[in-house]
Amino acid sequence: MTERVWHDVDDYINGLVIDRDDALDRVLASTVQAGLPEINVAPNQGKFLNLIARIHGARKILEIGTLAGYSTIWLARALPADGRLITLEADPHHADVASQNIAAAGLADRVEVRVGKALDTLPALESEGPFDLFFIDADKVNNPAYFRWAVDHSRPGSVIIVDNVVRGGLVLDAGSSDPSVIGTRELGALIAKESRVSATMVQTVGGKGYDGFALALVTG
Ligand code: SAH
Ligand code: DHB
Ligand code: MG
Repeated sequence: MTERVWHDVDDYINGLVIDRDDALDRVLASTVQAGLPEINVAPNQGKFLNLIARIHGARKILEIGTLAGYSTIWLARALPADGRLITLEADPHHADVASQNIAAAGLADRVEVRVGKALDTLPALESEGPFDLFFIDADKVNNPAYFRWAVDHSRPGSVIIVDNVVRGGLVLDAGSSDPSVIGTRELGALIAKESRVSATMVQTVGGKGYDGFALALVTG
């Protein structure tokens, strides 16, 4: 099995379960047009996030890593009318593109984009918690800090999802000097010893290559 097959199967799956969608098409077009990296979650993964949020009945969501707002829109669409999503983005240009896309999707009333490095903007969110769902998808080096913050600002029943925990298998390299890999491995160790969560990790292949996500349920 090759990456070509993963890609074609993703196209097949997306053809089956993903409706045509002007707002999401706009996000992907703006990503290319504005020169942003095409590292948004895949359509079927975006819908997975949307379904998790709906299954969970999430009313308050925190996302770390907005890019052009692709995963943001999938998640925000799961919210009830009085629900709220805050998304943190370090790059002002990304945040600007995302804000326009979120407004065009009709979600500006529910979504707030906060600009700045997440470690700097998280402290101002102290009093906004607890959040029902977290989607952590920014700089991987800070994943341990983001995960810790999420657990500390959750309630029993909160869900934490972390993207990109496999990185094509690089996560296996215990001697890696790549800060992203080190951060990812530290996250794994943290999840393993964190008694307040029950967690798993799932490998994924598809149009976005070979990676995986962590899913944690806060239990206490
Ligand atoms: N969740 C998005 C993809 C996010 S890509 C989607 O699936 O559609 C990662 C984003 O995190 C990039 O836009 C990058 O600028 C941002 N980022 C990187 N370091 C960050 C930091 N320290 N704080 C907040 N955002 C950061
Ligand atoms: C990268 C970041 C992501 O969040 C992702 O899903 C894929 C790739 C990256 O930084 O290369
Ligand atoms: Mg990601």
